[in-house]
Amino acid sequence: MQIAVMGYGIVGSGVVELFEKHKQSIISKSTQNDLMLKYILEIRDFPDSPYYSLFTKDFNKILIDDDIKIVVETMGGLNPAYEYVSACLRAGKHVVSSNKELVATYGYELLKLADENNVNFLFEASVGGGIPIIRPINQCLAANEIDEIAGILNGTTNFILTKMFGENMSFDDALKLAQEKGFAEKDPSADVDGIDSCRKICILASLGFGNHIYPKDIHTEGISSIKLEDIEYAKSWGGTIKLIGKAKILDNGKINIIVSPAFVQNHSQLANADDVFNAILVRGDAIGEVVFYGRGAGKLPTASAVVADIIDCAKHNSGKKSFGWGIPIDNYVENHLNVPVSLYVRAQISDFLSTLAAVEDVIPGVVILKRKDAGSDELAFVTPVEKEGSLREKLNSLPLNLLSVIRVTDY
Ligand code: HSE
Repeated sequence: MQIAVMGYGIVGSGVVELFEKHKQSIISKSTQNDLMLKYILEIRDFPDSPYYSLFTKDFNKILIDDDIKIVVETMGGLNPAYEYVSACLRAGKHVVSSNKELVATYGYELLKLADENNVNFLFEASVGGGIPIIRPINQCLAANEIDEIAGILNGTTNFILTKMFGENMSFDDALKLAQEKGFAEKDPSADVDGIDSCRKICILASLGFGNHIYPKDIHTEGISSIKLEDIEYAKSWGGTIKLIGKAKILDNGKINIIVSPAFVQNHSQLANADDVFNAILVRGDAIGEVVFYGRGAGKLPTASAVVADIIDCAKHNSGKKSFGWGIPIDNYVENHLNVPVSLYVRAQISDFLSTLAAVEDVIPGVVILKRKDAGSDELAFVTPVEKEGSLREKLNSLPLNLLSVIRVTDY
């Protein structure tokens, strides 16, 4: 049984390295004595690579080769990944992908195609890097009704926020460092604007709640407007700020799904996932809460999940694993403004005492926050829980020049 790897970037090269390093044990675990890597599809040249003879620029070579039973897609992006993966599934080849954009956008279609062709389409590495999360939700927690999934799903932004929190580093300096370390996406706006987290929570929510949810339907905010002042207020409140992707089933059957920075209390398990680590909390009716924690980005952690999928495909070569989710449905996602939430607010004001009185009058029960060096023209507070739309209307009616509004979590 032979394998092709499409894309020799950070993840693809990690897959090749890990596969070759542990080849004997992988072969034994896969139960396929002849499991071997045959092609690496890549447009760039790697003349000094020890795998030089495996490189090809011709996708058709992989497609028409009947000995290739498993194709690994680590190219990233939608095109030509979508066309290549579809063609491989149609040709009866199992596909393993680490490509969250592909799965979040075309997951339903590709899973259906895999089903129709009695092959597997597996993507454990698409969320949480090396953390097992797709299989646990699909298999180990299968007896539960999943109520909520919430997590730190992007290593780059978590690294940046950790540096801002721990070392008072500015956002720009921390981003530069993350890029130097190779965590960030090619275009870091996918990380810092929350797009990467959005794709990942779509995948988890589709799996956990049963119907495909598209990134375009998700309210998504990034971390680029977070200031060191907000971090100081979060500390004084007893917590920190994390970029959270969250999906929760509501009483009306709709899904509350959102990506945004959030205040997280120090005692939360999500507060203590720092640097490039990810942490994903799943709430189920039988299990209560379970948290998955580990390296959410990087070459070998991500390759670890990809290679495990390769082994799974090899083991299930002649059968299809029961895996996937249903057709997208209209109005499945609730407007975030209809969902109750607590908000942290930092505002510029002109008169402290009269503004404080007005705020307490319009939003009774606010908790006022303090920080060292705050000027008398600054007011920060946390509101009680109320529908977000109504809270925002009240805020807009007050004499506040809003500088920051950040959601507050309850976990
Ligand atoms: N840029 C992504 C991250 C890579 O930082 O989490 C892993 O998906």
